[in-house]
Amino acid sequence: MNLNAKSMPNRNHVNDLKAQSTSPDSIIQTANIQSNTVNFSNQKKNILWVIIFIIVTILVIVTITASVTLNRKNRTRPTKLTIATTENTTTMAATTTIEPVLIPLDAINGTVIGVYNTYIGGLSSISTPGDRDDQYEETEPPNHACDGNVSTIYSTFSPCGRGDRQQKCGLNTGFYLQLQHGPILVNGLRICYAYTSFASDPYIVSLEGSNLSSEHLILGTSWTLIYNDTIELRGTSSTTTCGTVQIFPNTNHYSNYRFLVSRKVGISDSVRYSEVELYGSGFHL
Ligand SMILES: *[C@@H]1O[C@H](CO)[C@@H](O)[C@H](O)[C@H]1NC(C)=O
Ligand SMILES: *[C@@H]1O[C@H](CO)[C@@H](O)[C@H](O)[C@H]1NC(C)=O
Ligand SMILES: *[C@@H]1O[C@H](CO)[C@@H](O)[C@H](O)[C@H]1NC(C)=O
Ligand SMILES: *[C@@H]1O[C@H](CO)[C@@H](O)[C@H](O)[C@H]1NC(C)=O
Ligand SMILES: *[C@@H]1O[C@H](CO)[C@@H](O)[C@H](O)[C@H]1NC(C)=O
Repeated sequence: MNLNAKSMPNRNHVNDLKAQSTSPDSIIQTANIQSNTVNFSNQKKNILWVIIFIIVTILVIVTITASVTLNRKNRTRPTKLTIATTENTTTMAATTTIEPVLIPLDAINGTVIGVYNTYIGGLSSISTPGDRDDQYEETEPPNHACDGNVSTIYSTFSPCGRGDRQQKCGLNTGFYLQLQHGPILVNGLRICYAYTSFASDPYIVSLEGSNLSSEHLILGTSWTLIYNDTIELRGTSSTTTCGTVQIFPNTNHYSNYRFLVSRKVGISDSVRYSEVELYGSGFHL
């Protein structure tokens, strides 16, 4: 304030003495200039303080913004990781949970052996083509159940003969075969029906596996039970050709399989079906 008060009149004085170039005047002029300089440097100081204040304010704002952003990023990062992990887990689950694959039931030498009066863990009684109570329909032999063609049917009468309509006809019959492919892990099964024979549809079926050679397969002791349960029933108005795949736990590979029907849907002279499909999760062609 004092400096300002002094400088105001001095400035006029400087203007008055502009023309003069004598040394005392010069001194006065210098003094005035100095005074102005002091005044100017004071303004500079104020500006400097303002600049410092602005810089500090900006620094504070930047620091706060940065920390908030970092916090947000830190909070976002684990979420992103979780999502990635979930994606990877899903991918891994998708690759480990392999869809059941249909196993081609190609038998060695094309030999599918029909059986009758045969029970789980019991001896196999080999059936022959014909219309007697120990036989299967000649035009509908056991290999039709394994040929991958839903138009061809396997039909068995035992313990009845053709035309004898009873609940028991065709029960405890089936077939066994030796897979050309060698030992395969089976954990899925599906039946494809015979065109319109609803009453002759299998209802309770079993699957057994064996690793023994063909001459031993007639013995019940050679077979290990893998599946023994109901299969999906179709409605009488259904046009469905095949049921749904029944998945079951199994960890054993077998090269021979025996399939038996122990109950059917209704009253008829036979048990009939077009396909028995076996599925394997770890199976690749
Ligand atoms: C996800 O799996 C891919 C491919 O296996 C791998 O490259 C990536 O690092 C995995 N990501 C995480 C987050 O594990
Ligand atoms: C397949 O046929 C060959 C030749 O006829 C015979 O030697 C072999 O024992 C048969 N194998 C089976 C499993 O029937
Ligand atoms: C399936 O069986 C039917 C009836 O025997 C036959 O006409 C048809 O050609 C077969 N299909 C195949 C692909 O073998
Ligand atoms: C197979 O299943 C049927 C029907 O549930 C049952 O009565 C029978 O005892 C079972 N047999 C074996 C050997 O588990
Ligand atoms: C059947 O034989 C195969 C091949 O030798 C083997 O890998 C598999 O474990 C055997 N299955 C059983 C139940 O022993």
